[in-house]
Amino acid sequence: MKTIFSGIQPSGTLTLGNYLGALKHFTELQDDHNCFFCIVDEHAITVPQDRLKLRNNIRSLAALYLASGIDPEKSTLFIQSEVPAHTQLGWMLQSISYMGELERMTQFKDKSAEKETAISSSLLTYPVLMAADILLYQADIVPVGEDQKQHLELTRNLAERFNNKYNDIFTIPEASIPKVGARIMSLQNPLKKMSKSDENEKAFISMLDDPKKIEKKIKSAVTDSDGVVKYDKENKLGVSNLLVIHSICSGESIEELEVRYAGKGYGEFKQGVAKAVIDILKPIQDKYNALIHSDELDDILDRGAEKAAPIANRTLVKAKKAMGLGRVKKKKGQE
Ligand code: TYM
Repeated sequence: MKTIFSGIQPSGTLTLGNYLGALKHFTELQDDHNCFFCIVDEHAITVPQDRLKLRNNIRSLAALYLASGIDPEKSTLFIQSEVPAHTQLGWMLQSISYMGELERMTQFKDKSAEKETAISSSLLTYPVLMAADILLYQADIVPVGEDQKQHLELTRNLAERFNNKYNDIFTIPEASIPKVGARIMSLQNPLKKMSKSDENEKAFISMLDDPKKIEKKIKSAVTDSDGVVKYDKENKLGVSNLLVIHSICSGESIEELEVRYAGKGYGEFKQGVAKAVIDILKPIQDKYNALIHSDELDDILDRGAEKAAPIANRTLVKAKKAMGLGRVKKKKGQE
């Protein structure tokens, strides 16, 4: 059985982009794969976080994973900082990563360009920690949205470099990126990806937005003025993004939707998009509300960390040995 690993940062409430690009696919993989899903809180602290908000976001993300259909009987769900092997291997892998390759990561370039001062060194080395997350579990497949593709390439490079230099320890993972929905765009600027850290709240749909808010945000989504519901990524980015969202949420193909909305205005189309989104998110929100304050959530996360730690430690021990870290203990009585 192949092993799957993926992670999501608890840096705010997940967006519809996170759901359609990643989370939705995680649930589809559980039946026939050995799955590890992680709340990567140590990634979240690469930018400043409010302590209490971070705590809430960690719990909220755990509940969202479960409400979206992650089944703790089938998958291992855990918090990254509760398995210390992640940062340990992350440090070891930093010793074989180059400044140049980290500085070339587009996410680092984008995020550091937004700020002029106080860019943490962890923002630069964060993809190395991500590599450690994946390699510790010997993952074969990593389901992610398109924005993580470059980080996955770096992970593969680091794994190959380590295997060649020290010992053949790590499985070389492959990214699995959905054909449709790998990059859901901002509702306000369809040239930018939908992001939970966007300052403009109208730019993204949070997975916990109520139906009214969802309707309002989709109604105010930026489109164009020709009034034709047609997929055209060159000239009609806003409409194309809404078509993708509608298609994944309602399960209809883009062609079917183009026929359905032919000759109808954007008003009716947007109402249809909003309904499709609400129909997908409402049941998740109901489950979320039942879970968020439950003891069950803590039990699941405890069990997840207990299951993940020995697997991660096994790889860590092998990697330490290969690098010559620590000691080889002498047997009693041996010189
Ligand atoms: P994060 O937390 O930014 O996003 C979580 C997942 O959601 C996907 N995603 C999107 N997909 C489609 N459209 C969008 N607008 C959109 N925005 C986000 C992301 O591609 C991702 O799959 N570094 C990672 C977290 C991470 C990780 C890992 C992932 C840490 N360790 C190991 C996989 C394996 C991140 O910041 O994702």
